[in-house]
Amino acid sequence: MDFAPDLLDILRNARHIATFTGAGVSAESGIPTFRDAQTGLWAKYRAEDLATPEAFRRDPVTVWDWYAWRRDLMRAVGPNPGHLAIAAMERLVQRVTVITQNVDGLHMQAGSSEVIELHGNIWHNLCADCSASVPESELTADIPPVCPHCQGKVRPGVVWFGEALPAQAWTRAAEVLETADVFFCIGTSSLVEPAASLPRDARACGRTVIQINPEVTSHDEIAQYVLRGKAGEVMPALVKAAWPQVA
Ligand code: OAD
Repeated sequence: MDFAPDLLDILRNARHIATFTGAGVSAESGIPTFRDAQTGLWAKYRAEDLATPEAFRRDPVTVWDWYAWRRDLMRAVGPNPGHLAIAAMERLVQRVTVITQNVDGLHMQAGSSEVIELHGNIWHNLCADCSASVPESELTADIPPVCPHCQGKVRPGVVWFGEALPAQAWTRAAEVLETADVFFCIGTSSLVEPAASLPRDARACGRTVIQINPEVTSHDEIAQYVLRGKAGEVMPALVKAAWPQVA
């Protein structure tokens, strides 16, 4: 795989690299994306029936079961070379921040130490009524489990359509735009706001935006570098090309 020499220089000289990731980064681990034709989750299921607060109010059993199925799927897989290459940059660059829309926790599992989860984490649970966080050890056997504090219904700790992003995560992501020299945009269709605005904001802040995706997305237009391919192939090759002696 060949990369533009000036891109490799930009990476070597960067002091802070941000990577904004989406479901495509976990695709090679075996986790389905949302919008890929045929294989994407939203090709088979309706988001309105499974990923909204209204859906949980209407049919909490179906929603809880669907997330339990996704948890089983995620429990069986691990990080792929894309996650590992992102984590490996921490040994080569002063600071690397991952801003992810993924809820699977695979960036942490790969060893990334600064991960901002914009859409929550599927392994967390919280009460839909009193918002208390409920540790796995306190989950009752009911479906959905019953909150130990208020007897409300427990739900997965992910962000659903129509809900605000966790304020602290969003503030941290905005702060990253102030200091990152390079902003990778990897494996996201860039269709879900407000997260999708981050690459545009990064470009507006004068950052070098690098897009990695096998398909065209609206962010191709704003990226200075578009690397067409799978994250698990492009990222390791790019890290090796930029830091051949150490990577
Ligand atoms: P999408 O499913 O919308 O997009 C996945 C992107 O990954 C597409 O652009 C694919 O071309 C790309 N892709 C597929 N395989 C890839 C690979 N091996 N390497 C790199 N890229 C690959 O997923 P997201 O953009 O993450 O939100 O979706 C954003 C949000 O929409 C999700 O966080 C979720 C969803 O509904 C909520 O649930 C709130």
